[in-house]
Amino acid sequence: MQAVIDYLEHNQARFVSELCEYVRFPSVSAQPDHRNDLQTCAEWVLNQCAQIGLDARLCPTTGNPIIVAKTPRAAVSSPSPHDEGVGRDPEGSVPRVVLTGTGRGVSSKHSPSSRRPHFVIYGHYDVQPPDPLELWKSPPFEPLIQGRSLFARGASDNKGQNLAHLKAIEAYLKTGTPLPCDITFVIEGEEEVGSSSLATFLKDNRAELECDAIVISDTGMPTPKHPALTYALRGIAAFEITLRGPARDLHSGIFGGTVDNPAMALGQLLGKLRDKNGRVAIPGFYDDVQPLSAYERKQFARLPFKAADYQKFLGVPKLFGERGFTPLEQRSARPTLEINGLTSGYQGEGSKTIVPAWARAKITTRLVPDQKPDTIIKLVRKHLTRLCPPTVRIEIQSGHGAVPYLVSPTSPQAQAALRALKSAFGCEPVLMREGGSIPIVNDFKKILRADSLLLGLALPDDNAHSPNEKFDLDCFAKGQLMSAYLWQELSKVTC
Ligand code: BES
Ligand code: MN
Repeated sequence: MQAVIDYLEHNQARFVSELCEYVRFPSVSAQPDHRNDLQTCAEWVLNQCAQIGLDARLCPTTGNPIIVAKTPRAAVSSPSPHDEGVGRDPEGSVPRVVLTGTGRGVSSKHSPSSRRPHFVIYGHYDVQPPDPLELWKSPPFEPLIQGRSLFARGASDNKGQNLAHLKAIEAYLKTGTPLPCDITFVIEGEEEVGSSSLATFLKDNRAELECDAIVISDTGMPTPKHPALTYALRGIAAFEITLRGPARDLHSGIFGGTVDNPAMALGQLLGKLRDKNGRVAIPGFYDDVQPLSAYERKQFARLPFKAADYQKFLGVPKLFGERGFTPLEQRSARPTLEINGLTSGYQGEGSKTIVPAWARAKITTRLVPDQKPDTIIKLVRKHLTRLCPPTVRIEIQSGHGAVPYLVSPTSPQAQAALRALKSAFGCEPVLMREGGSIPIVNDFKKILRADSLLLGLALPDDNAHSPNEKFDLDCFAKGQLMSAYLWQELSKVTC
């Protein structure tokens, strides 16, 4: 293991310049113009994988290619460093720990004697659009290093984070250090637009990807001194409301006063969707919400957080959220309803005196266990239809949805991950829930029946999805170390 650690240390400068190469590809999945950039970026990742000794291939899809790269599969398991020279019987007569608790029932699916642990590392090479460009201090696809920050679109979300894992595996392979497990990288190019090709790919390649856990670094940590295991993500349900009034925009002087105004009606309707305590005012919305346990609230309280700094960072005059919960609880463990976009009438310069023909709102709700997107959309539909005045027509169109994700933070695998975080960062890790969503984790669970370990390396001020995205180079280096320790720790508690 020392050889791996030394290798990582000695090669940091090259790793940083490779990350610079990686972020130069404008691999923006939302914009069709960038299709070729996604292809060349995928080829760059493929080449990286091949160079470090992985058995790698590029899998075409109807969208962007998926990279699948595997560590060389040993016919027999070699003694792993944590065995301290004792070595393991390749036929597995040495008893192994059977995974219990909420971890996947590995032992029920495979005879423990027949295989080594297998882990999938998931990441994505696509990035969000860089707009608005004028707010960037340096061009988004020309990496700039300032102090310990590397600025570029995709540096943190997610190129820096998945490259950290690749470099850890490179260190094992190049130093000839035996890995105690098999590893398969799955790096996709459509995460930012819904991962639809990957869901199909998982179904088509289930046997090859069957594994003991998925490892994902695509979430955050509170500070560089608080490495984190994220054990929950919120789900999501998206929908659009359209109110239609007159058959066309009308002169507001001639007709105003005799017909309802769809924009006004929509404003009134939306205003009724939350109460003064910041709760979503849709009957039944909270019915399936699991209350936070005392253990979880205690974990939240351990996280470093200053409301005044947070308010300043966000630029709001005052914080607002559901009464009875702390901001950290509000943004990750409580459900919300947000208006993401609002359109009606004349948007150009100056004034135009009309009663608009229609008004539309784009809305998402973030969901927590055990809320379900389908149930929520039904409740929304029922409530809005009832509230809608007879003077306008309502249309509700449902969009994408994902159920919330929650894994046990006390499973043997979670504990193993915490040990790896502690070894790498040199401080006590925290457990946290995140408010964002990674819908593909539900497919991993459903299709591969494997839990995801979320070991994010992003800092709160990394500006993911915003101008001036950056990645902290210490997080990059420590992330590599974490990955190196992780395979030892995870393999000890798996199979
Ligand atoms: N990496 C994020 C998700 C994330 C960020 C989780 C921070 C936890 C903390 C991912 O790339 C993302 O942006 N997901 C979308 C998914 C949505 C479009 C379905 C999100 O959460 O809005
Ligand atoms: Mn993202």
